[in-house]
Amino acid sequence: MQNKIDQYSAEINAFVPANADELEIFRIKFLGTKGIIKDLFEQFKIVGPEEKRVFGKVLNQFKQLAEAKYNELKESYNSEIVNPKSEIDLTLAGEGFAVGSRHPLSLIRNEIIDIFKRLGFVVAEGPEIEDDWHNFSALNFPEEHPARDMQDTFFIKKNTGKDDIALRTHTSSVQVRMMEAGKPPFRAIMPGRVYRNEAISARAHCFFHQVEGLYVDENVSFADLKQTLYHFVQELYGEGTQVRFRPSYFPFTEPSAEMDVSCSICKGAGCTMCKHSGWVEILGCGMVDPNVLENCGIDSKKYTGFAFGMGIERIANLKYVIRDLRLFSENDVRFLNQFKTEII
Ligand code: DAH
Repeated sequence: MQNKIDQYSAEINAFVPANADELEIFRIKFLGTKGIIKDLFEQFKIVGPEEKRVFGKVLNQFKQLAEAKYNELKESYNSEIVNPKSEIDLTLAGEGFAVGSRHPLSLIRNEIIDIFKRLGFVVAEGPEIEDDWHNFSALNFPEEHPARDMQDTFFIKKNTGKDDIALRTHTSSVQVRMMEAGKPPFRAIMPGRVYRNEAISARAHCFFHQVEGLYVDENVSFADLKQTLYHFVQELYGEGTQVRFRPSYFPFTEPSAEMDVSCSICKGAGCTMCKHSGWVEILGCGMVDPNVLENCGIDSKKYTGFAFGMGIERIANLKYVIRDLRLFSENDVRFLNQFKTEII
């Protein structure tokens, strides 16, 4: 046993590992659970009492020698691993960090706002929880109008009609707030979220976004309305975009129209986006009904105005060829990432 221990001690003293792996092999060989030291202690158990006295001490010293060697070497390897001087390569490229992007609806809204700002329109906002007056009555909705029905409107409080509180169904309510609060002229656009009690599908949602426009002054005419919206469309979809106005009905405008633009995807040739008609409807508009002006305390003999309202989702659908409205509110990063290039 003494011979063996002398031999192993010499081996330990001479040991110089080339790398951390070799040091690990050393540890397993001498200090492992099936290693040499464990084995020697097993043998030690069965020797006679005389030998026990001699070898007990020798064996313990041998064990300490192996442990000390291992601990010393381990420390030098550890310090090498954490030594920043040898490990950090300052010439390596830095890790990029993920940058967010604007939501497509924000991109479109900002674009619409920018175009109208250049025409002198200011931006105004109003509450999403509205009373019957601002959402319906002041806008000349008859008592029995179907839009007041429970089917379309999310009522928060439903009483007799006049005291109803609801989530606004359109941003036209902001027109009323604006006209009540100030004096003409008014030239504003009003972006915001609106709510309707609709089943959610690819083509309908219970909330969406609109931009309302209002221009009230002396001598405002339908020609002003047409020219303003024509200019808007040229800016949004590019020079040469065609427009057409179709007569329509809204309680708060008279006359009223819906405006179509030549399909920006097929340029009028016909595609699934425009249902092969070459035209897509993008907004409702008209001359502010004198009843609405009077409801807001404005002299309808002196002032006239035009108004318009458009859905932001509709415009984004056309611009980005998005066919499912639900994508706008699901926050799927695979969808949102596609608008990365448009960071403002
Ligand atoms: N409020 C209408 C809607 O939600 C849109 C609209 C149409 C707004 C004509 C207007 C307008 O200001 O003049 O469908």
